[in-house]
Amino acid sequence: MLHARSGALDNGEPISPPIVTTAKYALAGTPDTPYTYGRDINPTVEATEAAIAALEEAPVVAFPSGMAAITAALMITAKAGDHVLVPSDGYYVTRVMLEEILSGHDIQFDAIPTRDFAAADLSKYAVIWVETPSNPGLDLCSIRSVSEAAKAVDATVVVDNTTLTPLLQRPLDLGADLVVSSDTKAMAGHSDCLYGHVATRDEALFQKVWKWRKVSGSIPDPFPSFLVHRGLMTLELRLERMCTTARALVDRIGDHPAIETIKYPGMGFVIGLTFSGEARAERFINSCPAIFASTSFGGVHTSAERRARWADNVAEGFVRLSVGCEPTEALISAIEATLAEL
Ligand SMILES: Cc1ncc(COP(=O)(O)O)c(C=O)c1O
Repeated sequence: MLHARSGALDNGEPISPPIVTTAKYALAGTPDTPYTYGRDINPTVEATEAAIAALEEAPVVAFPSGMAAITAALMITAKAGDHVLVPSDGYYVTRVMLEEILSGHDIQFDAIPTRDFAAADLSKYAVIWVETPSNPGLDLCSIRSVSEAAKAVDATVVVDNTTLTPLLQRPLDLGADLVVSSDTKAMAGHSDCLYGHVATRDEALFQKVWKWRKVSGSIPDPFPSFLVHRGLMTLELRLERMCTTARALVDRIGDHPAIETIKYPGMGFVIGLTFSGEARAERFINSCPAIFASTSFGGVHTSAERRARWADNVAEGFVRLSVGCEPTEALISAIEATLAEL
């Protein structure tokens, strides 16, 4: 990925992708170039897509947010009369999109817990939407088994891979048809832009996603594309620190009496901590100097929030902790000191 761009440069070309801000390209006579109009194509967006494609080992279409990527995937896979299966413990706005927008287009959905996907009867569904680990529930299912069962009933499998990124899990290798990601999170990594992508190795699906972006006008801007490209250059380093610290933190505070339960899927940087109630959870988040109280996850700053405040299906005292890039020992010590005071 680091050399996807630099390896193809001629002498004198810049190693970082130029931020090309243009709505129009020179285009006289019969169009003989793909660079026709800014809503279709942009060189900075293409550079970022190429970097992500190197990670996914698949063609990629970039979007201005994770939700824009999710919308594209739903719009090209589900049609009127179809049923979609989604995780009840996954990202809630995907369900809002189905419930409040796509239901009006005669697309129905069912929501079941991620851990029930393995045993579910998939025969009714045209689209199986998987999130593993789910956010915020952090439960798991086997992408390979769900994909095999989905193939048997001719359903399309879409995996939202935001919580792990293609460096930690590549759903397309495990049988999924499409991957979507909120690159706002660890992919960009610095909490300074929104972004998303769809990847697929199926040429027909790829063409549909590309067409959706072009006609719906949802190409990302060049500046956030540049930021994501820049963030990707350190993705592996950031993830290494974040995941190493997350595991060390779980080992150190796993049995802490101030915490009722701790959930960690074994990899990644997101940890679920359940405290005895809302007050204790809020005290933990707001009194630890090494925790930034905010929504979202995957950034360089360790951050946390109580997901029940968004009416997620979790306990009032459930905190989603996203481990950042702070020095491991300093972060763990700060968290231990806060837990000791609760
Ligand atoms: C798992 C997951 N998917 C998708 C999204 C939506 O991404 P965005 O906020 O970039 O639209 C989020 C955002 O929190 C998420 O956590």
